Amino acid sequence: MARIVGAINTSHVPAIGRAIAANLQDDPYWKPFFDGFPPVHAWLDKVRPDVVVVLYNDHGLNFFLDKMPTFAVGAAPEYHNADEGWGIPTLPPFKGVPGLSWHVINELVAREFDLTTCQEMLVDHAFSLPLKLLWPDAPSCPVPTVPVCINTVQYPLPSARRCYKLGKALGEAIASWDEDKRVLIVGTGGLSHQLDGERAGFVNPAFDKAFMDSLIDNPEWVTQYSNEEIVEKTGTQGIELLMWLAARAALPGKVSRVHSNYHIPISNTASGLLAMACEN
Ligand code: DHB
Ligand code: FE
Repeated sequence: MARIVGAINTSHVPAIGRAIAANLQDDPYWKPFFDGFPPVHAWLDKVRPDVVVVLYNDHGLNFFLDKMPTFAVGAAPEYHNADEGWGIPTLPPFKGVPGLSWHVINELVAREFDLTTCQEMLVDHAFSLPLKLLWPDAPSCPVPTVPVCINTVQYPLPSARRCYKLGKALGEAIASWDEDKRVLIVGTGGLSHQLDGERAGFVNPAFDKAFMDSLIDNPEWVTQYSNEEIVEKTGTQGIELLMWLAARAALPGKVSRVHSNYHIPISNTASGLLAMACEN
């Protein structure tokens, strides 16, 4: 049976792609952000995942506002990154794991999650950059992937409670996959940020830190809030924390904190990193 080794949650700001391309990791602006990753790399070397399931939100590359699934799962042999209009370099294609994709799709549909299944899927910065941050030295991502998309772009959005349930069902589905594989969950987005409107530049470090802490011992904490309350507390795009929540919910049993980092600003975003190990 497959075993989930843990989860890594991280922000996915497009400017990170530019910084990587220009080798700015030691630049004073970027260093506090990139310094978060070496302890996570060391943990990855230890747990050596065979597969990574990535929870993220598409920003208009694969799905546009005319067709917006609430939840979508990729079931392709490979996933192409493409020009997203940000001018960041595209990364080589990511290998898929159709066997796990279809197992997850079948299990989630059986558990009453009505998914969109994607046998072709372009992946944007929210998918590609976190994987590049986790495996920076490999020319292409060395671990095959299953993309899971949550709509955090166009209302109506799924509630935190619903995303928690999705994550839990996803974790149970993965654990019932009849393959002897180690699976890593990655959740991308956030943390607090608002890109436009009257509150552009809004961040809320106190809330972000409380949310990050809650994921270790009390992961349902944020489900007390409606999406409108989360947006009020974290900014319009801060709602991307839903992917962090779903990723944590996929972990069975107790977890321990491997490493965390929190830094403001990247672009005008509060960036966070949280790696958690399953204690099983
Ligand atoms: C930006 C874009 C994102 O998708 C995000 O999550 C944070 C910041 C940006 O354009 O700066
Ligand atoms: Fe985003």
